[in-house]
Amino acid sequence: MAEERMLITGGQRLEGTVRVSGGKNTAVAVISASILSRTPCVIENLPNIEDVNVSVETLEHLGAKVSWDPKAGVMEVDASTICRTDVPLELCRRMRASSYYIGALLARCGQAQVPLPGGCDIGRRPIDQHIKGMRSLGAVVETQRGVVNARADKLVGGDVFMDMVTVGGTINVMLAASQAEGITTIYNAAKEPHIVDLANFLNSMGCRVKGAGTDVIRIRGVNTLACRRPYAVIPDQIETGTLMIAAAATHGDVTICGCIPTHMEALTAKLLEMGARVDERDDAIRVRSIGAHRAVTFKTQVYPGFPTDLQQPMSALLCTATGTSTVVENIFESRFRHLAEMERMGARVRIYEQTAVIEGVPQLHAAAVEATDLRAGAALVIAGLMAQGTTEIYNTHFIDRGYEHLEDKLNSLGAKIWRTRE
Ligand code: EPU
Repeated sequence: MAEERMLITGGQRLEGTVRVSGGKNTAVAVISASILSRTPCVIENLPNIEDVNVSVETLEHLGAKVSWDPKAGVMEVDASTICRTDVPLELCRRMRASSYYIGALLARCGQAQVPLPGGCDIGRRPIDQHIKGMRSLGAVVETQRGVVNARADKLVGGDVFMDMVTVGGTINVMLAASQAEGITTIYNAAKEPHIVDLANFLNSMGCRVKGAGTDVIRIRGVNTLACRRPYAVIPDQIETGTLMIAAAATHGDVTICGCIPTHMEALTAKLLEMGARVDERDDAIRVRSIGAHRAVTFKTQVYPGFPTDLQQPMSALLCTATGTSTVVENIFESRFRHLAEMERMGARVRIYEQTAVIEGVPQLHAAAVEATDLRAGAALVIAGLMAQGTTEIYNTHFIDRGYEHLEDKLNSLGAKIWRTRE
């Protein structure tokens, strides 16, 4: 059978209301934290995506009992039966967030053996800051033949100064510190919404985390963590942004409900600058657009700056803006590979190291293109929605890692997207 492709007939205006799913990056963190609980955990609003399936396989490998209802988005985890402290390479290669099991297993079992993580190929992704943080809590951490071996008879809270703002590093140290003796302080911590969500989840289990959402987080470890009530993860910031960009790209009128508009300020500001109209309600955003968009300049930054995960979909939109846009990617060094694919669709792009200069063209045209990572896939979907003709996207598995039923959601708004293996 031929490889699966996603086909998109462009030029359809998106119109209507769509509900956003639970957050991918918060889901993988909260699921890993569930192994800290001595009582069964119920986690709600989880997206039905491949990274959640890999998380389930990881928990089951460790010996936890998991019941996962992808339709309802509800998972129950009973981690009282955990009997292993290693994560197989096969699972680590499929998900970046496998590294969270270093911190979580250290806290829960006093040891972890986890191969260096995989995930999307968007540049170097070392975990030296994660390891440094765990050493500050008294763990002995060595990497041998690509496997991180961590152990600690006892973790003791300490000061952790992050050399750069790292989402994963902050999460991993929070997990390790949750049962350490005394107080851990993380300086230069990441402020992303999923850091706050993880802190809320840990606190709901009895941990005492303060300062999440600022750059100094204090964690007072406790002996026993226990889930007492179901916990619902926050909506997906990046899916919300992708849908907002899709609405603008098709000159549509779309209301995205179930989202948190304050998480979207950086994108909202840029869409307004481009000439789209954005209206916010408590838990919904309406994006409308008529006429041509203006070119803009933006730089990716840590939260609350413009998220690197939306750089790729946003740069697709800029391919047809009037004028020349400049995009600076400050977080990952190879996150412009989608632009080379879009050149096949008529985009005019020049790349100078971390800067992409995009000269807007009046119209993209359909082509066969390849997703090189998750958000590159989303960017190509946006480009396909704008293009004349039927675009074919290869490597659809990247899209499924992080978007729940993306084509169903877009089709419900009027898009023409389907998959084929013919
Ligand atoms: N870094 C280091 N050393 C470390 C950790 C990070 O040098 O120990 C560097 C990285 O190389 C990178 C920068 O610091 O240049 C930021 O990396 P960060 O640790 O913040 O990223 P991450 O935790 O690996 C998460 C998301 C990514 C998202 C980034 C940035 C998850 C599972 N992944 O990755 O999401 O792009 O934060 O916001 O939360 C995606 O969803 O498509 C995705 C790639």
